[in-house]
Amino acid sequence: MPRNGGPVSGIMLGIDFGSKFIKVAEVSARGGELELLSAGILPTPSGLLSGDAIVDPQGAAETIKTLLQQVGVHTNKVVITVKGQTSVVIRIIEVPKMREDELADAMRWEIERHVPFASTGAVAMDYAPLQPMSTIPEEETGEVLLAVAEEGLIKAVVDSLELAGLEAVVIDIEPLALGRCFVGKDPELKGRTVAILQMGARSSELTVIGYDNPRLTRTLNIGGNNLTSAIGNALSVSDEEAEKIKKRYAAILVEKLGVPTPTLPPAEEEAPFFPFSPTYELPPEETPPSRVETPPERELPADEKEIREEVFEAMLPILGDIVNELRRSFEYVRSRAEELQIERLIVSGGGALIRDIDKFFSRELGVPTEVGDPLKGMKLNPRLSPAYLREISPLLSVAIGSAIRDFV
Ligand SMILES: Nc1ncnc2c1ncn2[C@@H]1O[C@H](COP(=O)(O)OP(=O)(O)OP(=O)(O)O)[C@@H](O)[C@H]1O
Ligand SMILES: [Mg+2]
Repeated sequence: MPRNGGPVSGIMLGIDFGSKFIKVAEVSARGGELELLSAGILPTPSGLLSGDAIVDPQGAAETIKTLLQQVGVHTNKVVITVKGQTSVVIRIIEVPKMREDELADAMRWEIERHVPFASTGAVAMDYAPLQPMSTIPEEETGEVLLAVAEEGLIKAVVDSLELAGLEAVVIDIEPLALGRCFVGKDPELKGRTVAILQMGARSSELTVIGYDNPRLTRTLNIGGNNLTSAIGNALSVSDEEAEKIKKRYAAILVEKLGVPTPTLPPAEEEAPFFPFSPTYELPPEETPPSRVETPPERELPADEKEIREEVFEAMLPILGDIVNELRRSFEYVRSRAEELQIERLIVSGGGALIRDIDKFFSRELGVPTEVGDPLKGMKLNPRLSPAYLREISPLLSVAIGSAIRDFV
């Protein structure tokens, strides 16, 4: 939740433990000014995660330590994020006006009703009303942001950090980190209605921020892994090869896009409380390169153009599925509150590295779209390589949004 009060000083680490890459950002705040002190990414070694959960805290700690040594950090205090998937549910719930002390019971009841894993084991939960209950008129409803995770998942995260010699100040959730990163620290966007699409490897996450708070969060079980598999199938190559090809050639060929498909009718009701499909099982894969390579800018020779076209054709149905999900979600937001017109879509995460992905969404959705710049509004430590930062910046948004938790 946004912090009230004056500027806070300090240094904080943000860690984003993704299934493909582990990211770290260290941010200092002084007199309201933010500085990125260090940042970096490392491929997530295979075997550390099963589904969304860390199953090898010792291995996770070693990887975190290696990354921290590489980037060089000044603090051991960390904010780490989890995201909505099979073992984590993040949801905005509408509740009748009630006293804040009644909310805890109401939330427990919501969890029992709607969180499947709550019936089989212990959960950790947190919630925050999006506006003070006392300000809601009688007979009206308010919204509460609820996050529920399997307790074991949270424990493994905390254990990993401890083993790495770090102190978990807070376990945060991705939608809040993204809201801070792209809206909270951008005076131009503060107060506006902004959708953020975080395109990860296993899944993607849509967050709509309005009045500086999340208005909708939804996990889409579509991510970069699906694109890689589709490319692998189309080109008859292994996933490992497809991943390399994707990084080099993935681009939106704007001239090949047809007329945008019409908007779907708005969903009658919000998607079911637990819209997640079963965990996406990945084929075993090789460790990806430690840096994200951006595709070349130069004009491609004819045979490479052909590959680019094939890659584009392979990705298109999957990107189309994402567009449909976004349309439904945007309609849902509009149907809930007339004044919440999505003014901008920000694309972030590894998928934002697909060349011209912003043009694709803007054309398909009719919403101004940009690839988010997580570094906006921050000073950069002169020690950091601008070229490296440019390369990896779309991957850093969650880590930066976590690190600035107490500063914006
Ligand atoms: N240049 C590129 N073009 C297209 N996709 C890319 C590029 N570089 C990286 N990716 C993809 O981005 C994804 C990794 O992004 P990211 O680090 O945001 O995911 P993650 O956080 O590890 O995954 P998750 O959050 O789902 O666990 C991978 O699917 C990778 O293939
Ligand atoms: Mg991620």
